[in-house]
Amino acid sequence: MTIQLDRPTRPDDLTDLIGRHTAGYSLEAPLYTSREAFDLDMAAIFTKHWLFVAAEAEVPEPGDFVTVQVGPSSVIIVRDDDEQVRAFYNVCRHRGSRLLDDARGSVGNLVCPYHRWTYNVDGRLLHADNQPAGFDCSRFGLKPVHVRSVGGFVFICLADEPPADFDDVAARIDPYLAPYELGRTKVAHQIDIVEQGNWKLVMENNRECYHCDGHPELTSAYFPLHGYTAEDVPPRLRRTWDRFEKATAALQASCVRQGFPLDGMRELDNRPTGFMVAHAPLDGAGKSYTAGGESVCRKRLGSIADDRFGDFHLHMQPNSWFHLLSDHAVVFSVLPLSPDTTLLRSTWLVHADAVEGVDYDVPTLTHVWSATNAQDSAFVARTQRGVEDPGYQPGPYSEVEGDVEAFVSWYVSRVRAHLATTAY
Ligand code: FES
Ligand code: FE
Repeated sequence: MTIQLDRPTRPDDLTDLIGRHTAGYSLEAPLYTSREAFDLDMAAIFTKHWLFVAAEAEVPEPGDFVTVQVGPSSVIIVRDDDEQVRAFYNVCRHRGSRLLDDARGSVGNLVCPYHRWTYNVDGRLLHADNQPAGFDCSRFGLKPVHVRSVGGFVFICLADEPPADFDDVAARIDPYLAPYELGRTKVAHQIDIVEQGNWKLVMENNRECYHCDGHPELTSAYFPLHGYTAEDVPPRLRRTWDRFEKATAALQASCVRQGFPLDGMRELDNRPTGFMVAHAPLDGAGKSYTAGGESVCRKRLGSIADDRFGDFHLHMQPNSWFHLLSDHAVVFSVLPLSPDTTLLRSTWLVHADAVEGVDYDVPTLTHVWSATNAQDSAFVARTQRGVEDPGYQPGPYSEVEGDVEAFVSWYVSRVRAHLATTAY
């Protein structure tokens, strides 16, 4: 756990730290280490914004549920009998017992283990024993959490009034996601990693490839040109650049041919629901995440008609990133557990009809991102150790860390907005 060598951080210290943040620099240490900053992040970020928490494929049938922990709140994500995905606080409306203990499963109804109050999976209270005449079940349905499904991904928001810009973001990203038909996928594999670092370090680490020399498996799938432009690519990489340009043109032509949207969008730090989307070609065969670029699943997703369709990626603030390829998707959700531990959930999705052992095998499917996750975990843990050291002071971002800066800038602006409306 974090050791505070000097006086504890007080909320007014945090207000000062956020207020004096220097643009272009990493955050000051207590924002990564203190319990007070963690609580502030829960209040300002994780209970105020839309969070990616599950793929729809995790709850394929009515009654299927997952539970997720968002700060102090446990939330049930469940598919109801009309096949709508719903979300509820995992709290009984009688005297507050936790309803579900498991991380996932399937139920007919939601039955409280304490006194057996029984709820439909749409949240309605169906039955409560020993009530007086006139007891009105309709007054005691489960407390709902705002939930939206976009392109097969489930987002929740714990705020009473969620950021209204999510409708706009959903409408704009949905055409990019729709061709993959992620609602018709299945979970091929899922891994939970407890990162030994603050959630912001996990996000910052994801938002740059400055460290990508540490990812030999991942970088062998992409063109090794990160950080270069046509103007400054060195002579030794000129031929690689030419191949990259050809692959980019082919990917763009494929988008046009298939009638899919092509242009990237980048609105990471100027709105409550920050996001970006982009297509990127892959090296080698250009089909999927392997050293040679070959496919890892024989069944293509959705209406994608081209194996060689590169990587479409979506990044969303505050807690997610997504990679969609012609043959699978791998998606990531970040949920803080404590000031210095964070749950990273990685989920691999394949076509619903793909058969393990026939169309794909899990080790091959997951190889690149399993290795990448392990390498990133080590980077996050070593950074957490560093920011806890009294010798740490914020450092400057490089030219290739623009998306880290955008994340931190988004974070600072959202916390400032929260502090401006909250008596702390
Ligand atoms: Fe759930 Fe009593 S607390 S039925
Ligand atoms: Fe990384």
